[in-house]
Amino acid sequence: MKEYNRILVTAALPYANGPLHIGHLAGCYIPSDIYVRYQRARKRNILFVGGSDEHGVPITIRALKEGVTPQQIVDKYHASIKQSFADLGISFDIYSRTSNPVHHQTAADFFKNLYDKGLFEEKETEQYFDEKANVFLADRYITGTCPVCGNPNAYGDQCEKCGSSLSPDQLINPHSSLSDAIPVKRKTKHWYFPLQHYEAWLKEWVLEEHKEWKNNVYGQCKSWLDNGLQSRAMTRDSNWGIKVPLPDAEGKVLYVWFDAPIGYISATKELTDKWADYWCKEDTKLVHFIGKDNIVFHCIIFPAMLKAHGGFVLPDNVPANEFLNIEGEKVSTSRNWAVWANEYVQDFPGCEDVLRYVLCANLPEAKDNDFTWKDFQERNNSELVAIFGNFVNRAFVLMHKLCGGKVPPLHNGIIDQKDKQLIEDIGAAKGKITQSIEEYRFREALFEVIDLARKGNKYMQEKEPWIKAKLVNEGGTTGEAAQKEIDNCLHLSLQLTANLAILIHPFLPGTARKMLHLMKVVDKMLEWENAGSLNLLRVGYSLRAPELLFRKIEDAEITAQVEKLRTNATKPAAIAEEKQPEPVKAIQIKPEIVYDDFAKLDLKVATILAAEKVEKADKLLKLEVDLGFEKRTIVSGIALHFTPEEIVGKQVVVVTNLAPRKMRGIESNGMILMAEDKTGKLHFINPENAIEPGAGVS
Ligand code: 2FM
Ligand code: ZN
Repeated sequence: MKEYNRILVTAALPYANGPLHIGHLAGCYIPSDIYVRYQRARKRNILFVGGSDEHGVPITIRALKEGVTPQQIVDKYHASIKQSFADLGISFDIYSRTSNPVHHQTAADFFKNLYDKGLFEEKETEQYFDEKANVFLADRYITGTCPVCGNPNAYGDQCEKCGSSLSPDQLINPHSSLSDAIPVKRKTKHWYFPLQHYEAWLKEWVLEEHKEWKNNVYGQCKSWLDNGLQSRAMTRDSNWGIKVPLPDAEGKVLYVWFDAPIGYISATKELTDKWADYWCKEDTKLVHFIGKDNIVFHCIIFPAMLKAHGGFVLPDNVPANEFLNIEGEKVSTSRNWAVWANEYVQDFPGCEDVLRYVLCANLPEAKDNDFTWKDFQERNNSELVAIFGNFVNRAFVLMHKLCGGKVPPLHNGIIDQKDKQLIEDIGAAKGKITQSIEEYRFREALFEVIDLARKGNKYMQEKEPWIKAKLVNEGGTTGEAAQKEIDNCLHLSLQLTANLAILIHPFLPGTARKMLHLMKVVDKMLEWENAGSLNLLRVGYSLRAPELLFRKIEDAEITAQVEKLRTNATKPAAIAEEKQPEPVKAIQIKPEIVYDDFAKLDLKVATILAAEKVEKADKLLKLEVDLGFEKRTIVSGIALHFTPEEIVGKQVVVVTNLAPRKMRGIESNGMILMAEDKTGKLHFINPENAIEPGAGVS
């Protein structure tokens, strides 16, 4: 394990072409903020840099749509995005922007460094040109009829109706969206970066030295590298961007994906004179948090650029997330199918942590995941309110009622098994949460925090201090003994409350702060090393009166949000989709296993006898399956893909020896296997012709 003395965390620079939405937040800002807050609590030397990406086609397209200049667009959305980050507690040390002069200079110098080393290939190619507007056209600026589905408004790079990837040559009746002119081809010169020269090194560095990277990241890199790398143009014909710093480059700017990642360096420069320590010293741990559409740029292209330049550290990890869908559909800014951060903050004032919570609990860490308003409500009401908030509230209410509003003493002589178990649980939770965060598994880490609160509730329920209180009223030795038991229960419950504040802080900073206020303690208590301690609150210390940490979210609020989402989505397209160039669908290959690992699975064919929806769980179906030798109940997350009626009678492959698991109160005994295509649609895997249930699969 490498020793690091400082950490530099970057979060993808969002295009300043629209407001921030929850897909952005779940992609990289929530996880990066959790990671950074945790590292700060560990008193590690860490910087968190971010900023707006203000160049490239997404900005100019948006300007065109709004009928304003690109500068007006970036000014407006940079401010809006920055505000949303502040509102939701994303704690950047700097939130910069790529239009800053320091960035223009840094990116131009970087380009010049590679140019002076003779690393670029100069090539002349034919590109589409608008003779009326007198400009070269990016593929997005060319529209025409889709050859696949006949959509008359397809773009030169993609048809948004049928999803086909296109090139402008394929469009029927192509025309420029700037002037309506028919584009013609013209020769133009650009500077290409020969990525293929770095292929061998990248294979070694990523595929051999970073096998620990997440499966989705590693898989996508492998796919790009296996397909072979090619030269990529690092300049564009445009008047919006960073001018190519060469004498013969009139009308040319740096490709946005050349300049944007350099934005991380510029932002660090802007933040501190010690920027070079973070970027150039080998004992820096550089971590890029991004969404999956940015993987190739951060794991292949930018590292190759850094390597070519020399003198910079390379990322230690790139924990990219997959996409977060909304109510079963892909987020689409052009269809306005999104939950916008600025609107959320207005609609749910004081509930910023609730959004952080729900997004973290649903982070698309391994595969695309879904946000639904119903789940939002349910997680708030049955986890934050009913588990976490309830525990803290009970501890405070009972401490005021039964212990005079002060932290009661712990009577060592009467510590029982339940007390010991709780003490053990606190220590164990800290260990698990620490490890999960260090390894970028934030959902798991958050689950452990809530689970600890759940254990607190159980402890309180079993100890029943309110029952013991009746004995106290009787007085005498029985009363004294009962008071001691109450003291112990509340002493430990309050120490657990303090621990929960520390552990929840990276996830829900506003909640942790409210807890500090209730406990009348200072920020210093939130340092991670304090977690696990049972001396966080001094005996006899008086605490504030209870206040609820979370409020219930009502059905009407949820109905209003779902309606708003659907109504807005019917409006005409307002915002251009931020098309990413040529993403490669990751072929995710899990680490090798031996035959014995495989042989542990018991796979059998089963017939679905009955299926029904699970109440209050949009995604779950309860299935009765016939395995030949027995019938079983299996709860399966396929309800968004199939109706109960259409699957009854179908055969499936079942993992029969999976440990039983309770979902929504129903015990599931096994798991059915399905294939998922690249659009996320599920398909049955079943025998070609129906066979006897119970047949083995191997
Ligand atoms: O995908 C995007 O939104 C890009 N603007 C991300 C850039 S990340 C980095 F390279 F700056
Ligand atoms: Zn089409």
